[in-house]
This record gives sequence, C-alpha cells and structure tokens, in this order.
Amino acid sequence: MGFLLAAVGSAVGLGNMWRFSATASQSGGAAFVVLYLLLTLIVGIPLLMAELSIGRKMRLSPISALRKAGGSGWVPLGYLFVASGFFILAFYSVIAGWALRLGLEAIFVGLPQDPAAHFGDISSGPFAAVFHLVFIALTVFVVSGGVKKGIERAATILMPALFIILVGLAVWAVSLDGAGEGYRFYLTPDISGIFDPQTIADAAGQTYFSLSLGMGALLTFASYLGKEHNLPRESSIIAAADFGVAFIAGLVVFPVIFALGFSHLIEGLAPGDAEGVLFIALPAAFDSMGVFGRAVAIAFFVALIVGALTSTISLLEVVVSSLMDETKIERKKLAYTMGAAIAVVGLAPAFDIQWLVRMNNWAGTLFLGIGAFATVVFVGWFMDDPVGELAVGAGTLTRKTLRLWYLLTKYVLPVITGTVLYFMIRNLFFSS
Ligand code: TRP
Repeated sequence: MGFLLAAVGSAVGLGNMWRFSATASQSGGAAFVVLYLLLTLIVGIPLLMAELSIGRKMRLSPISALRKAGGSGWVPLGYLFVASGFFILAFYSVIAGWALRLGLEAIFVGLPQDPAAHFGDISSGPFAAVFHLVFIALTVFVVSGGVKKGIERAATILMPALFIILVGLAVWAVSLDGAGEGYRFYLTPDISGIFDPQTIADAAGQTYFSLSLGMGALLTFASYLGKEHNLPRESSIIAAADFGVAFIAGLVVFPVIFALGFSHLIEGLAPGDAEGVLFIALPAAFDSMGVFGRAVAIAFFVALIVGALTSTISLLEVVVSSLMDETKIERKKLAYTMGAAIAVVGLAPAFDIQWLVRMNNWAGTLFLGIGAFATVVFVGWFMDDPVGELAVGAGTLTRKTLRLWYLLTKYVLPVITGTVLYFMIRNLFFSS
C-alpha cells in the first residue's frame, strides 16, 4: 500500500469521530480542543517523526527493531506495543460493529426514529457481539493476505469521500436553529480548563490514539519505506489530515447535538454515556434532512466503515508482524489465532459498555501514554543518529530544522509526555 495512504488510513478512523466527540463532550469542549491542537503540533508531529525514523532505519517490525536499535532491554516495550494493539482492537471493533450495523440498517431498513433509544439497543448485547465478530473477521481476512489491493482502492476513494461528506455536513449544520450553543461549547474555551490535568491528559491521550502513536503502528509501516521519502513532511501531512477530519467532525456533531435537542447527552455525563454521542447525533441529523438523509447516511457509514477497517488493519498488523518475527510462525496462522483471541476478549466490551470504557482507559490511553513516553526517551537518548535518518530524503530547509526537532525530542518531549503519563496514572487510579 502507498505509505501515505496506509498511514493516513491508520490514523483516520473511529478515533477521529467516535472517540473525539466522546472525549470532547466529556472533557469540557473547547478547552480540550485547544489543547488537542497544541499537542498535535508540539508532540504529535515530532513523535510521528520519531516512530518513522526507527522503522525506516531498522527495517524491522517493532520488537525486533527495538532490540536491534537499543538492545534486549527494550524488548518489553515491544511487547507492550503488541498488547496495546491487541486490546485496542478488541474494543475498537465493537464500535466498528456499531457503525457496520447502522450502515446496514441505513441501506436495508431506514433511519432510526429515536436515535438515543436505538443506540441503547444496539451498543451492547448479542447483536453487538455478532457485529464485532464480523468486523474482526474482515480485519483478519485482510491482514492474513486476503484483499490488500481492494482495500487500497476502496480507501483511495472513500477517505476523500469521508472528508467531503463531513465538510458538507458541517456546512449544512450552520443552518440549524440553535446550532450556536454547539459552536460555543466546541469553540469558545474557558481558560481555566486549559490547565486542568484531566483535560490535558485527555487531550494528549486523544492525540496519541488519533495519530496511532505510542504502539509502533507507524513504525511498522515505515519499515517498508524507501529512502526517498521525506519523513518530516509526510509526518506533517498525516497530522494535518488527521486533525482536519476530527475537527470537522466536531463541527458537525456539536451543532447537531444542541440544535436537535440532545444536549442532555453531554451534560452531567456518567462514564459510558458519552460513547454514543456520534452515533446518536448523526442519525438524528440524517433524519432531519428529509429525502436525502438516507442516502447521505449510507454514504457516510460506508466511508466510516472503510476508515475503521484501515485502522483495525494497522492494529492487527503490529500484533502479527511483531510476533511473526519473534516466533517465526507464519502470517496466516498468527492472523487467525490472534484474531480469534481478540474476538473473544472483545466480547466483554460488546456485552458491557463499562468494559469498553475501561479498555479504552487502559489500552487506549495508559498503554499509549507509556509507549509514547518510552518512544521519545528511546529516540532522544538511546537511538543512534535519528537526525541522520530523518535527514535522508528531507529537503534542505527541513534538514536545518532537524536539529530543533532533536533538542525537542531529547529534552522537552520527555518532560511533556512524562507529565501527561503522570496525569493519566493519577486520573486512572486516584480520582473518583
Ligand atoms: N488512529 C486510529 C483512529 O483514530 C486508531 C488506531 C489505529 C490506533 N492504529 C492505532 C490507535 C495504533 C493507537 C495506536 O481511529
């Protein structure tokens, strides 16, 4: 697969839509959004460059790359990456299953009359489990060597389509009566919120998750990269595309939530309540559009499902390629057995949304926080000449600024990602 396509495909997914709306709702809206933008620029892009430099330099899957570049002391970090991929995929595919179900319903049944009640019906239980299993099966099929070309072609068309649909929806949302409240919530930060440790940790966690950072996913893709690639430039493109999709998704979700009378969803949230924000707001929006609504819904969900699939592929790919190199077991066998194990673990979040919240807090936030911190320490302090690797293929101007990147990665990012990790641990263990 073309590197940029694969990397953007990995980054852009349910994280930009479901997780971004849920986290922004829970974490107080605009202050979170400001921090998320800042952290994408200051931490996200440099960390992308760090991961890509390890992958392209070592040309190995994560565990082997870490061993070869840093010694066997770094192997446990590689296993943490594998565990992150394993557990993130287990709950992510449950959410992808919701999207799959809503998409199929839009095609064959129609739009739900009461989206909030409908979400309650589909989010947990035997049907949620079945759609989760179907999504894991699709992912396993692709990763075991099934339809790479087909996915590539679908993604080439549907990723831009998703973007265009979102922009269209965002423009449409402007016309909604009562949208103003939504824009205020989403875009007018209160300054004190920016210094709230919980909000900082949420924004950093969202940055890692959305950019697929902190578990070696982009490292894995970069291991196939040629020396002509300009890694700093491509990192910026990936981050811009990823931020753009999330930000525009917010420009749809929040006006819709306030205009169509769902603001109770994001006020006084209990854990778990926020998870449905996207999947309630959008069907409600489609329904209010009249005759075109159903067609827009179908287009949107098809694009979202393919976006989710290109993300689940990258999650499983880390697990499979790492273990392939460690155990010498063949790809197909690993894809099937790991896929089966992930499918079983995913039954917990499929039957109980509190398990989904828990797994997102652990694997989707804490594990990535540890992985991100360890990755910057590794690249800043232990890897041999990362600047030299990044300079290959980069333009002259970029090469001059790489020194800055190095200083940032060595001295500043360990402090930022370390502080964030401390906040994550504190929030997870020591708050109500
Ligand atoms: N970034 C993807 C999303 O936003 C999810 C994802 C794919 C991911 N691969 C990852 C998250 C690796 C963390 C690490 O939907």
